Amino acid sequence: MKAVQLTTSGDYSSHYLIDDHEQWEREIGMHEGLSLERLNYNTVPKPVAGPGEVVVEIHGAGLNHLDVWAVQCAPSHQRSESRIPGSDIAGIVESTGEGVSSCSPGDRVVLHSATPCMNCPMCLTGRDNNCLALGSFGSSRDGGLAEYTLAPEWNVIALPDTVSLVDAASLPVAYMTAWHMLVARAGVRRGDWVLVNAAGSGVGIAATQIAKLFGAHVVTSAGSDAKLEKSRELGASETINYSTHSLYEEAMRVTGGRGVDIVIDSLSDELMEQSVEALAAGGRLVNCGCTLGNWARVNVARMMAKESSVLGSVMGCKQELIEVVREVGRGGLRAVVDRTFPLSQAREAVAYLAHRKQFGKVVVVPDAHYPPEV
Ligand SMILES: NC(=O)c1ccc[n+]([C@@H]2O[C@H](COP(=O)([O-])OP(=O)(O)OC[C@H]3O[C@@H](n4cnc5c(N)ncnc54)[C@H](OP(=O)(O)O)[C@@H]3O)[C@@H](O)[C@H]2O)c1
Ligand SMILES: [Zn+2]
Repeated sequence: MKAVQLTTSGDYSSHYLIDDHEQWEREIGMHEGLSLERLNYNTVPKPVAGPGEVVVEIHGAGLNHLDVWAVQCAPSHQRSESRIPGSDIAGIVESTGEGVSSCSPGDRVVLHSATPCMNCPMCLTGRDNNCLALGSFGSSRDGGLAEYTLAPEWNVIALPDTVSLVDAASLPVAYMTAWHMLVARAGVRRGDWVLVNAAGSGVGIAATQIAKLFGAHVVTSAGSDAKLEKSRELGASETINYSTHSLYEEAMRVTGGRGVDIVIDSLSDELMEQSVEALAAGGRLVNCGCTLGNWARVNVARMMAKESSVLGSVMGCKQELIEVVREVGRGGLRAVVDRTFPLSQAREAVAYLAHRKQFGKVVVVPDAHYPPEV
């Protein structure tokens, strides 16, 4: 089968492991370039389903910023083995191994991106996103930039007829992460003011819609007016261009000096610092990403005085993805696919994301199914 391999394979989390700011800049910073030549379109063996496993014919693989990190992998964290990247996968069950009972060949499915052990203290207490041995497609096992993939039966989620395979491929990491941030971590409630940073990112377009679904007032921020205009179409009532304006001052202005109850942040660095300042009393900032670097400063004294909280968030639990899929199926949320690329042009697809051109998700489709039906 055809697949894209990362020949000098990157560990997706390599940038989280760097403690030194200067080393982060040197190894990860955008100025280092993308090393797109690390992605190669190859012919590799097609997987075969063993007991408890399912082979899925891939019809869409959603890209995430994770895939940019993988290509930009810090030289100090490169591994020698090749890996097929891509955490978000949707397709049709092609074959099932011995003992598989919950799906059959021909079923339309989306895969939960993570592969928790389901046997550690975290998994056993319903926190499979915090599994002590957490793996994921595209990182610890081959992912979606291929014609077929091999999945544990546990990861397979049936799709409603109303959700296309390309739309489904755009959901897992971004929507599940945003759901976990807003619902599990921040406890979003009707009437809350929610600031969503990087509104055109995968996490941002999902968070904007989920916050609206729960009855919040949504303020979004992004680096261009064009992205902010699209963000209004998704439900943002106020928008802030952080390339031209102070995020803090604008957040205070649009909330009448009150501040926001929740910030959904994936940028970190100086924009996160301003976001913490923009929290109302009792507010919660939830961060899931370090697009601008691994560090941010906070004024601890003001956090204390306002009883504000800064929370981390990683991925989500399988049940949260099931709820996302159900909401998209019934029209409560919608997939926002900016562009599709054929698998043979995976390098162009990753570059498109790295250069901040997208509003929403970029989905890669095997050439045999390209262009996809919409
Ligand atoms: N913890 C988790 O489980 C988890 C899950 C998903 C994602 N993440 C992390 O969350 C972040 C967002 O992920 P995503 O897949 O939603 O991202 P994405 O779709 O690639 O979007 C990233 C956004 O960041 C903004 N940005 C600002 N400065 C940038 C720069 N120098 N380079 C690139 N982008 C810049 C861009 O918006 P403007 O052009 O408007 O500035 C862009 O839309 C990433 O850091 C990712 O690793 C973490
Ligand atoms: Zn576990």
